[in-house]
Amino acid sequence: MPDTVPKSSMDEKTPEAATPQAVQGAAPRVAKDRATAWNLLNEHTQSASLLKHALAVEVCVRAYGEKHAAELGLPPAEAREMVEMYAITGLLHDFDYEKHPSPEEHPWVGNQILTEQGWAEEIRHAILGHAEYTRTPRVSHLDRTLFACDELAGFLTANALVKPTKSILDVNAASVRKKMKDKAFARGVNRDDIITGAVELGVDLDQHIAFCLAAMQKHADVLGLAGTGAAVEQPG
Ligand SMILES: [Fe+2]
Repeated sequence: MPDTVPKSSMDEKTPEAATPQAVQGAAPRVAKDRATAWNLLNEHTQSASLLKHALAVEVCVRAYGEKHAAELGLPPAEAREMVEMYAITGLLHDFDYEKHPSPEEHPWVGNQILTEQGWAEEIRHAILGHAEYTRTPRVSHLDRTLFACDELAGFLTANALVKPTKSILDVNAASVRKKMKDKAFARGVNRDDIITGAVELGVDLDQHIAFCLAAMQKHADVLGLAGTGAAVEQPG
């Protein structure tokens, strides 16, 4: 949900090298690939913070897709296809938000565009399901994964941005749990959605936080959260 984008992260420059290296080389068997999704997102989104949010959710959802494919024991081609679908879903879940932020339009307008362009029903259903007010039941693992990762990715970003280094590499899961209890911190992030998301996905909340944190740390550069390399000097 767009509320997860920390306002303090606003950076009017589009992040450079915003395509994670690990998500290049898209599997061609998917009806629409990740590169096409990235282009579609950029056609509709100027905000750097919203692009970073899309990338953060993408890396978390992708990581769960990789885990799920391994658990299912899928052969490599099918596993790649599943992971691609998960990544695309994370990337596109808010792609219509900048132009159509109201609950009357988001994510309905986006869903209409995705339908017209022939994107997979599994992707579209998960995107509808990430907005509670659509009352779309979250049935599939992908549906539940997107919902579980959306608010948490925003919250983890907020945790990184309050570090002196502004680095996700300096965030640890224990401090994230503490911040969840601090109501004044990142008020826009719905804690209940984070907790509900983990329950729906059937994962322990601490493990869920650690899993998504690790996924974001792995792609810290792409997410613009690799930090300054040194603590930012505080005014005396
Ligand atoms: Fe979102």
